[in-house]
Amino acid sequence: MNDKPNKLITDDGLRLDGRRADEIRPMKIEIGVLSRADGSCYLEWGRNKILVGVFGPREAHPRRLQRADAAVIRYRYNMASFSVEDRARPGPSRRSIEISKVSREAFEPVIMAELYPKTAIDIFVEILQADAGTRTAAINASSIALADAGIPMKGLVTSCAFGKVDGQIVLDLNKEEDNYGEADFPVAMTQDGEITLLQMDGHLTPEEIKKGFELVKKGCKEILEIQQTVLRKKFETPVEEPEAEPEAKIVDTESEAAETEPSLEYAPEAAAVEETIEEAEELEAEPSEEVTETVPEAEELEEIVKEAEVEVVDGEAIEEAIEAETEEEAIEAETEEEAIEAEDESKGPWKVVKDPSESGSRGENDE
Ligand code: CDP
Repeated sequence: MNDKPNKLITDDGLRLDGRRADEIRPMKIEIGVLSRADGSCYLEWGRNKILVGVFGPREAHPRRLQRADAAVIRYRYNMASFSVEDRARPGPSRRSIEISKVSREAFEPVIMAELYPKTAIDIFVEILQADAGTRTAAINASSIALADAGIPMKGLVTSCAFGKVDGQIVLDLNKEEDNYGEADFPVAMTQDGEITLLQMDGHLTPEEIKKGFELVKKGCKEILEIQQTVLRKKFETPVEEPEAEPEAKIVDTESEAAETEPSLEYAPEAAAVEETIEEAEELEAEPSEEVTETVPEAEELEEIVKEAEVEVVDGEAIEEAIEAETEEEAIEAETEEEAIEAEDESKGPWKVVKDPSESGSRGENDE
């Protein structure tokens, strides 16, 4: 353990890490870091490093824990054994059970558990590195992880501690200030300013508490802005944006190709598109060449058509000739018939009767 420093606040009013009394430690937040959790958050606050995974609403097990009218909220705060200077004993401790309870209660007023009866909403907190204020840091991270999981809430919960160090009220104590200070006072509140967690370790006068609350309100306001910024950054980004890009490219390929260079990401596709366009252009160009080349053939065709027309004309003449011939033949046939008839008449002693009714009965001739 480090020995107590002579002064935790220097003469110029700065703390050992260079902060003023009303300043919080720098905060860094990442959302959605765990792929198997419904919501997650990684938060660094000063030297604190915290990971939160939210699961649910999901069917509560064991069933005896189920509530018919609302979801059961479970909060588990766990400190990794390597998270502190002296190895932390693995498993639940009195301290971790207490922190889990008060942190769960800090969320109960905002989580709309009545929407999910018989289910459980689990919040798992892993403290990877601790440097005082881990419960407040964990509440800030859990608030974001719950929002990431899409759990309906009336608002975000924000948490910060104030304390007394070297007789001064300061905001957001670090490890040395927590260890050697006179008081530590963690607070959590909704974004409407409703207090959902309030604890005190040490001794403070009512005036000091009042002053501390002014600092905590300011600190929580700053933290809320960070939380909202991070959440907006994630959820205001259109999810379909990467999918929309190729469509736009397909629709407007020609104009875009003319205006801008294709991006490296789409370079192979752009090359394929260019090839296709070139091929299409070649195909378009080919028929015009063929037309010019086939002009003599067309002339030949014309000649053939003309000849065919001539033949058609000849065909008509032939038809006429055939008609004339058939007429002649018919006349010849008639004259032949007449000649035969005349011959027959002249040959026999009998009379040729065409119609028996015309010249009496046959019997006359037989006779
Ligand atoms: O972390 P928080 O201030 O919410 O809780 P605390 O009980 O006041 O603990 C203050 C700090 O003491 C923790 O943040 C740890 O850095 C340290 N600690 C430790 O070194 N070993 C423990 N078993 C528990 C706490």
